[in-house]
Amino acid sequence: KTIYVLNGPNLNLLGTREPETYGSDTLATIEELCRTTAAQLDVAIEFRQTNHEGEMIDWIQQSRLDGHALVINPAAWTHTSVAIRDAVTAVALPLYEVHITNVHKREPFRHHSFLSDVAKGVICGYGIRGYQYALMEAAR
Ligand code: DQA
Repeated sequence: KTIYVLNGPNLNLLGTREPETYGSDTLATIEELCRTTAAQLDVAIEFRQTNHEGEMIDWIQQSRLDGHALVINPAAWTHTSVAIRDAVTAVALPLYEVHITNVHKREPFRHHSFLSDVAKGVICGYGIRGYQYALMEAAR
């Protein structure tokens, strides 16, 4: 069984993207943190990022085959995508929603999430450590 760690649009630019908001860590650093954490927890992970909504939906659907849980930072799709929400509810795996920033102290359009009410848990505002905390819960 595998924990899918899926990242949405523009997260490939972490490190250079608005560093005052998102910090200087890159997606590669997040992947490293997730791999180290997964090894400590003795779980397998699939770590991926895409800028294409349909690809994200395909991955969520595929997780039905061997997935144990989903850890997703849906990035901007958090606030826009009924399709990603529907994919998550279709696969019926526990979802842990992660945001690097505290979306609630940002623009009002970031306060609503199409995923939070179908998530097992939501972590935001703890930087990249949020991924680590989500993995710890997802591995239980
Ligand atoms: C984000 C928050 C979203 O509002 C934003 O669109 C992102 C990243 C975060 O990790 O803080 O791209 O999900």
